[in-house]
Amino acid sequence: MEVRVTPAGRSSPPSTPPRLAARVEDFESDIDRILISGEEIQSTVRRLGEEITRDYEGRSVLLVGVLKGAFVMMADLSRHVRLPLEFDFMAVSSYGAATRTSGVVRILKDLDHDIEGQDVLLVEDIIDSGLTLNYLLKNLRSRRPASLEVCALLQKEGIQQVPLDVRYRGFMIPPEFVVGYGLDFAERFRNLPYIATLKPETYEA
Ligand code: IMP
Ligand code: MG
Repeated sequence: MEVRVTPAGRSSPPSTPPRLAARVEDFESDIDRILISGEEIQSTVRRLGEEITRDYEGRSVLLVGVLKGAFVMMADLSRHVRLPLEFDFMAVSSYGAATRTSGVVRILKDLDHDIEGQDVLLVEDIIDSGLTLNYLLKNLRSRRPASLEVCALLQKEGIQQVPLDVRYRGFMIPPEFVVGYGLDFAERFRNLPYIATLKPETYEA
């Protein structure tokens, strides 16, 4: 008997093809310059995972991702950590302009776990002013975890407004607005496998 494989949840092919909102060519033409290739990201995330594995040997770790930007990094990172892991997420939003944080952070989604006595590793996509992370660290520290460290994929050079102790860092980058690998502009570009800057016209549009 012939077995036909179709995507889950779809018993037969749709009669009309889905209409795409935009062509991938249009999407990619918004990109100005690739700062970090997908391959460089993958080898760095692997290195970070190996460091974490070594440092936390014999312990289990709770990874706390800061939504939404950290979800891509967290998924890749976790698969290079050879330890028992648990996952939790927080969603925060900062009041103020679209491409700048004000430092006033609102928790939109709190942790599901009680973290008292746990080894917590906060996973962030990018540190810009550092105000979001500074707020989150203070907030999490007050819940008395056994340990609290930070793993950030990117940190912008020379613009932190508060001193931050970042134990695991992927790349230092110039203080430009970047997208890709979880990072968005107006909720787009998160699925690019690389880190890139956008053409100025994209912001103006
Ligand atoms: P901070 O509080 O200024 O450090 O900003 C941190 C947050 O702002 C990050 O978690 C991102 O969500 C967002 N952000 C900062 N810089 C960029 C960028 O270059 N591209 C996309 N999002 C950014
Ligand atoms: Mg964002």
